[in-house]
Amino acid sequence: MRIWKHAALAGAALMIAIGSAAAQDVKIGFIVKQPEEPWFQDEWKFAQQAAKEKGFTLVEIGAQDGEKVQSAIDNLGAQGAQGFIICTPDVKLGPGIAAKAAANDLKLMTVDDRLVDNEGKPIESVPHMGISATKIGETVGQAIADEIKSRGWDMPQVGMIKVSYDQLPTAVDRVEGATSVLQKAGFPADHIFNAPQAKTDTEAALNAATTVINAHPDIKHWVAVGLNDEAVLGAVRATESVGIPPENVIGVGIGGADSAINEFKKPNPTGFFGTVIISPKRHGYETALDMYDWIANGKEPDKLTLTSGQLATRADYQKVRQDLGLQ
Ligand code: GLA
Repeated sequence: MRIWKHAALAGAALMIAIGSAAAQDVKIGFIVKQPEEPWFQDEWKFAQQAAKEKGFTLVEIGAQDGEKVQSAIDNLGAQGAQGFIICTPDVKLGPGIAAKAAANDLKLMTVDDRLVDNEGKPIESVPHMGISATKIGETVGQAIADEIKSRGWDMPQVGMIKVSYDQLPTAVDRVEGATSVLQKAGFPADHIFNAPQAKTDTEAALNAATTVINAHPDIKHWVAVGLNDEAVLGAVRATESVGIPPENVIGVGIGGADSAINEFKKPNPTGFFGTVIISPKRHGYETALDMYDWIANGKEPDKLTLTSGQLATRADYQKVRQDLGLQ
């Protein structure tokens, strides 16, 4: 009897040892297109949290162009990783990324920006977690419409800086969501001015927005939309640079990471009125955990997960962040 008990205990200990050895052997890459952007740093932070909890290794890689993506995937293969999560610098790299992953025997998941095939259609076979882009864009549009009303502006006189990045489908959906709600609320279509940005960062948005503002010196009140906080911050910085006062500007971004929070912490309000806070925890922690489960337990992740967002302004961002478990 005692012998059996000992044998059973030894067996259990052995199984635990095997289990943890397996976790130690798991290596997962997390490749992002813009490592300098706070959103992506937060994703990494939460992915590391999953790694720590489960005992696997998470390799953070920044890859700003296609070449870096290719070598990152080869490197992960050479290091003996079993899978990776990627937010690609260009969704059109989709077929190449899928092929490289397969050649290196790496499981592949995407986050934020969904890969497209040669016809521009989403590659549905690759598990993806992104935001509910249209819905979140609509929240932006509604927040701006409400604020136009509360400031008592004359809607037909207002101009919109529409910071766009049309090669990225989620960017198109976000901005379209915002403009559609505003148009339904009476925003004049001929006052929506397109400001295409060359890259998805603040500087590129500032350059694009400056061109629009300079072309319309007659407009007194401006609103700004874009795919993320950086895009809207660029537009707000452009209004500041030509001396438009903050009370004449309503910018609402998407993200809620430090880019937005630092703006709210400034002693005086700026034209950056609000942001729709999305969840870097879900995008970082959950994708890393899903990948781990896939590798260690053979459990395939859901093919598509879309996460939600919540509006926050200078007035209530601390409470919203608390409610979302972000601080
Ligand atoms: C895109 C944007 C990021 C962030 C994520 C969220 O990748 O470039 O700034 O908004 O989507 O999914």
